[in-house]
Amino acid sequence: MRIVTIIGNRPQFVKAAAVSRQLREVGEELIVHTGQHYDDELSGVFFAELGVPAPDRELGAGSGTNSEQTARILSALEPVLAELRPDMALVYGDTNSTLAGTLAAAQAGIPVGHVEAGMRSFDRSMPEELNRVLCDHASALLLCSTETAMRNLGAESAAGERHLVGDVMADVLLVFRGPARERSTAVEDLGLTPGEYVLATAHRAGNVDDPQRLAALVELLTGIERPVVLPAHPRTRARLEAAGLWERLEAAVTLTAPLGYLDFIRLAESARAVLTDSGGVQKEAYLLEVPCVTMRPNTEWVETVEAGWNVLVDLDAGAAREAVERPRPSGARPELYGGGRAAEAVRDLVAAYTGRP
Ligand code: UD1
Ligand code: UDP
Repeated sequence: MRIVTIIGNRPQFVKAAAVSRQLREVGEELIVHTGQHYDDELSGVFFAELGVPAPDRELGAGSGTNSEQTARILSALEPVLAELRPDMALVYGDTNSTLAGTLAAAQAGIPVGHVEAGMRSFDRSMPEELNRVLCDHASALLLCSTETAMRNLGAESAAGERHLVGDVMADVLLVFRGPARERSTAVEDLGLTPGEYVLATAHRAGNVDDPQRLAALVELLTGIERPVVLPAHPRTRARLEAAGLWERLEAAVTLTAPLGYLDFIRLAESARAVLTDSGGVQKEAYLLEVPCVTMRPNTEWVETVEAGWNVLVDLDAGAAREAVERPRPSGARPELYGGGRAAEAVRDLVAAYTGRP
């Protein structure tokens, strides 16, 4: 079995860390890095810390509008897939790298395995939602993190085979939370008191590209009545600087560069709450038993909300202040994401699919 894994940005490097290790036990895996993320702090650090094998091909696509970036990756992938001729292309999540990878492979007649299939926010203004829907309907093997995702695909009559595998990000977190505690000194280095501060991330286009929403985001973050640490995504930094809001935020919030995985997880685990618009970080907060406040009107990870560990506040500063201070949820914490065995399930399903006559 020869698998080509197509990845290109931060959360995909995390997800591939779990699956790559498993795939290489049973077959050949080649990694194609699209180059959507290229800075060391969004890319190289994850390969180094999480032991993701070095890419076999680098497409160097770089930044651009959604269409430009998708098109660049798509055309760079065509000859690479023709040369590598895999039995399956594996893609992750919902980014432009996912869409281009799916389309290039499907057009070349290569079956696509989509990890984290079936997630829906039902908000078509998000570029990620469009990517998810298109990828799912072009994939042969739909590997779902949650029951909700399975139902979403059923409701859309997606043609591929769907399987519930759990969430591969959970696998990575369960392996690396121990090393993060042992090796990271981020809490001490930033002068933070465990349980007293808020860890924030923000990078969704819907929150930072629109000047009014960006101003509301700054209002919200500066209104939190605790120390706030925000490792700033480059998209967010660029938008804040262009709007002249960076200094205003810096006066109230500790702004850092994007962090490596171990430092980020250590900071998340010791926080009073996590304030975010990230998909991955909502799941990680749940798994780390840290209350989450999500700066979006909706989420794909609805189970975290239903379980009481995540509250959606959009950009309402008052609601965010209250949600950060709410008592820790009590009661049962259901196992939502497969308990660390998702990558094994992905490996077995991919091997079974590609091994069919
Ligand atoms: C992308 C994904 C988003 C995902 C996020 C993970 C899409 C549509 N969006 O958003 O779903 O949650 O990655 O972090 O695919 N930049 C740098 N250095 C880099 C990469 C980007 O400075 O290494 C800057 C560039 O100015 C670029 C901007 O960040 O224009 C945005 O990067 P891009 O990859 O287009 O989108 P993300 O916001 O990272
Ligand atoms: N992350 C990190 N450093 C940071 C911010 C996030 O290592 O400064 C990790 C986080 O733990 C998670 C992943 O990056 O595993 C989430 O990526 P991101 O928020 O960029 O994307 P999304 O999940 O929203 O697509």
